[in-house]
Amino acid sequence: MSDTGPSVPLSVPVMGEHERDYVLDCIENGWVTSGDYIARFERAVATRVGSPFAISCASGTAAIHVALRLAGVGPGDEVLVPALTFIATVNPVAYLGAHPVFMDCDDYMNIDVEKVASFLSAECERTADGVIDRATGRRVAAVLPVHVFGSPCRMDELLRVAGEWDVPVVEDAAESLGSSWTAGPLAGRHTGTVGLLGALSFNGNKIITTGGGGMILTADEHLAQRALHLVTQAKADEIRYVHDEVGYNYRLSNVSAALGAAQMETLDARISAKAANHARYAERLAGIDGIELLGVPDGTQPNYWFYSALVDPAGFGMDREALMSSLAAKGIQTRPVWYLNHRQAPYANERAYRVERARWFWERVLNLPCTHTLAQHDIERICDAIESARV
Ligand SMILES: Cc1ncc(COP(=O)(O)O)c(C=O)c1O
Repeated sequence: MSDTGPSVPLSVPVMGEHERDYVLDCIENGWVTSGDYIARFERAVATRVGSPFAISCASGTAAIHVALRLAGVGPGDEVLVPALTFIATVNPVAYLGAHPVFMDCDDYMNIDVEKVASFLSAECERTADGVIDRATGRRVAAVLPVHVFGSPCRMDELLRVAGEWDVPVVEDAAESLGSSWTAGPLAGRHTGTVGLLGALSFNGNKIITTGGGGMILTADEHLAQRALHLVTQAKADEIRYVHDEVGYNYRLSNVSAALGAAQMETLDARISAKAANHARYAERLAGIDGIELLGVPDGTQPNYWFYSALVDPAGFGMDREALMSSLAAKGIQTRPVWYLNHRQAPYANERAYRVERARWFWERVLNLPCTHTLAQHDIERICDAIESARV
């Protein structure tokens, strides 16, 4: 393979000896599709996050798709989703024939709980058929918050608001494996385990990876059984190929689960390294006018998955795009935050509710290299490069 990548990439997978050993074990024993690593990986994740049930699947997107279906989302429904998130949060809403309603974000880029509450009380009414959005006549079937870049949402308040309206909450915890709350009613609980269902991702850029993969979390045994049924083609009789509903080929392979089982052994070390690197970035960037590292919400212990620098063009003398180009010229890979979903081509005609703060972040966020193996001298070099880019 040619080596044409940046000298400091944004986020790369890191594999160790156990990853190789466990995958070789699958290959040597022929258990590449099904096998024992699946249950082992699921147990490791379930134990770590305190989820009674965990069902692995082919991707985080697949996990969200199945979780939304199990929460009761169907054709013609609405789901409240963040405008500021990866589009994979939103696409499963469309797969189900439902419509996203885009919500604004708070100071940590997570869904704005006050605006969710105000949308429900100002725009919706309770009827015998559920909560109806008066403007569209559609049923609000779920809220889908995202723990953006690993920082836990204000879930206790969101659960209270959604609970008042009897609207289920599905957590997109794709980016937040290992993140938890340390204060308030959810102290000691992990992201992805406090809604009706949660979804994790093990895509290559995540804190641990299976190459590609995801997991559905739930405390409800019936939903867990239904999730397993749906991700394995909804087999009513496995031997005779009888299927009782439309299912999916969404199961994670044993080879991928073998990678996951090995990666889980290093999760805590990864989080510690990422926390220390976040602190060092914050310290260095605090000395540069016009640049600030986004902090973490009070009362939470995030996994520090991504580091977001906020570039104030007036204070820094250069905008985010120019800084990104300047760093790229020095071999340092950075990325802006996602394009806002209510402006994405497939969703441009969907409803957006008072999206304001998300636009502010969209203009300023520059995500910095964050792989847990980042060396101290790399962080110093990146911060030096940011400092010297100023005009
Ligand atoms: C917030 C968010 N949601 C959903 C996904 C989808 O996960 P996957 O790529 O495993 O399908 C990702 C990551 O890719 C993500 O960052």
